[in-house]
Amino acid sequence: MTLITYIIDLIRRSLISFSNQPCHVATYTRELPISIERMYENAIDGEHLPHLHRSSFSELNIIDSGKWGWRAKGHLTPKSFMNKMELELKLDREKHRWITRTLSGLGKGSEIWTHAIPLDDHKIKVIVDFYVPKLPKFLKNMYETEYIKTYAKLYDEDLWMMATRQHELDRLKNRKAPENTETLNTTRINLGGETDIEHALPLEFTLQGHPYRLIKLDNEWVAHSSTCPHMLGPLQNSDVKDGKVECPWHGYVFDVKTRECTTGQKCKLAPAPKIMIDQGNIIASF
Ligand code: FES
Ligand SMILES: [Fe+2]
Repeated sequence: MTLITYIIDLIRRSLISFSNQPCHVATYTRELPISIERMYENAIDGEHLPHLHRSSFSELNIIDSGKWGWRAKGHLTPKSFMNKMELELKLDREKHRWITRTLSGLGKGSEIWTHAIPLDDHKIKVIVDFYVPKLPKFLKNMYETEYIKTYAKLYDEDLWMMATRQHELDRLKNRKAPENTETLNTTRINLGGETDIEHALPLEFTLQGHPYRLIKLDNEWVAHSSTCPHMLGPLQNSDVKDGKVECPWHGYVFDVKTRECTTGQKCKLAPAPKIMIDQGNIIASF
């Protein structure tokens, strides 16, 4: 966001208007290969904005939240006094829609109406309409371009999260199926020769149907669960810094050895298998 955008929006907010009708600026539509449940879950989850969408939101502090939606104060990226704002999202499941309003700050008065139409169990169509009050006609194109570009990116990021979460939920469901009993009963796996593995780190592996990652920490072999206990976010591509790993979806941080959540949330990494060396091979076992 530039100083010019800030000044333009400040002038718009200061204009006197005798109409309460916000101007319809643009419509963004997209089909998404996910269920309506995943979409609603994503909409009322304000906590993910400054983490999953960190290139758009630098900070967002939730003031209130529930099944109805959320209200929050925050900033766009990069954080500045110019892009401070208060947002509110209200979900109406019966009408298959949610409305995001900017209550104060940059974009004050704007409303984003999203309708989500289920096409089948794992396919929906979203129609997003953007409204801005007191918008001079000559600025419409500029706002339209900005909204469409921003929302295409936000939905790319959301789709990754929703599809990955669905995949993980399906994995957990299938893990307990009778045909997977043998997998569940396997308590030990040979990951390979120590020298070869050393060159292949970090190494992802599965034991008892659960994904883990093998790393070396202070010269010690350590395995940790690569699924976040909060909402099943993927940890396998997150760097380990000072023995801690951060989930890309909501920013919870976990100590890979103690499994504790060091950002204060009440959740813990799933237990990981012990790692030992047996005749030059790395063995993971419970
Ligand atoms: S899924 Fe929310 S912090 Fe990991
Ligand atoms: Fe999102």
